[in-house]
Amino acid sequence: MNTTLRDGIDWVGFVDWNVRDFHGYITKRGSTYNAYLIQDKKIALIDTVKGPFSEHLLNNIRDIIGNRKIDYLVCNHSELDHAGSIPAVMSAYPDAVVVCTAKCEKTLAMHFDTSGWKFQAVKTGDSLSLGNRTLTFIETPMVHWPESMFTYMPEEKILFSMDAFGQHYATSNRFDDEVDLDAAMFEAKVYYASIVMLYNTQVRKVLEAAGGLKIEIIATAHGVIWRSHIGKIIEAYKEWSSERFRRKVVVMYDTMWNSTEKMAEAIYEGALIPGVEVSLIHIRKTDLASIAYEIIDAAGVAFGSAILNLDIMPTAHAVLSYLNGLKATGRAGLAFGSYGWSAGAVDEIENYFRKLKWESIREPIRSNFSPTPEILAECRKAGRELAEKAYEIGSS
Ligand code: FEO
Repeated sequence: MNTTLRDGIDWVGFVDWNVRDFHGYITKRGSTYNAYLIQDKKIALIDTVKGPFSEHLLNNIRDIIGNRKIDYLVCNHSELDHAGSIPAVMSAYPDAVVVCTAKCEKTLAMHFDTSGWKFQAVKTGDSLSLGNRTLTFIETPMVHWPESMFTYMPEEKILFSMDAFGQHYATSNRFDDEVDLDAAMFEAKVYYASIVMLYNTQVRKVLEAAGGLKIEIIATAHGVIWRSHIGKIIEAYKEWSSERFRRKVVVMYDTMWNSTEKMAEAIYEGALIPGVEVSLIHIRKTDLASIAYEIIDAAGVAFGSAILNLDIMPTAHAVLSYLNGLKATGRAGLAFGSYGWSAGAVDEIENYFRKLKWESIREPIRSNFSPTPEILAECRKAGRELAEKAYEIGSS
């Protein structure tokens, strides 16, 4: 495995082939926790790995520097998939100085006993000489946490970007030109939808701040390192954070005895007009990350649920709450669902639409138990109207 970014700069992270659940995000391809070791007159480690894998990290470091010591441990982000092994590193290298933002120092103290650690707080524009090469710092609040930052090495034009531009993608290859690029871009988009979409505004600011940097390598904290397709991933981030929608409709639903499913299928059929892409998703059979991926650039969403215990189904709450948390705002919406004796419960979908700032194209379509041919015709008509709206507000 080639782990060398530049002479004296190596990946020393961990490939987690078997992780499948990342706080609810189903990671079908596993993930990696990327840490980087820089050998100069001083030695710096950038980020660590999840706590259970600290021995792998330490072995990777020892394989490269033997008995030499780490001088600086740069913590770009204190979430535990990257900071979890800091205690193990500080135990092995107690004289290392932890370099991070002031907020990060406070956050680390809430995770660990940091009383014996030496800290150097940095802010945007600060730099740290390692001898022949320099680390400079750019605060990136809310990408992904309030304490986060990028580290940039101007001499080598490397941006250590922590979560940004990452992917949950386990592979034995470390670089974008050594893997299937479509797979890397797909996983980067799934990652953006579930981890980063909430912070679109901050991402746009960070892209602007990073725009003046000459970048030849983006060393992410997850997945492959970008060195041959930097323009592609940066353009993709600009597009995903732009909140411009495509001419796309997502029809999603949960169903009990297939009545809501029949309505969903009729809406789907109606939405199939030229120039509009349409997806049909049974939400109980689909993980949240895949739903977020589908929704990220969809201009229109039809959302349906059967009624269970006088309420929309628990899965429907979960999906709508997840999208609300991600601030997936601004779509055109259509609510629908079947019911037995609680027709009003479908209104709960519209309550979520209001939170999401989705504009309903019409009142909810309701079916008392199995949909009649008339209701299915109404669903097809509404599906067409939603697709026409998506065509109007989306771009190709
Ligand atoms: Fe990969 Fe926000 O941690």
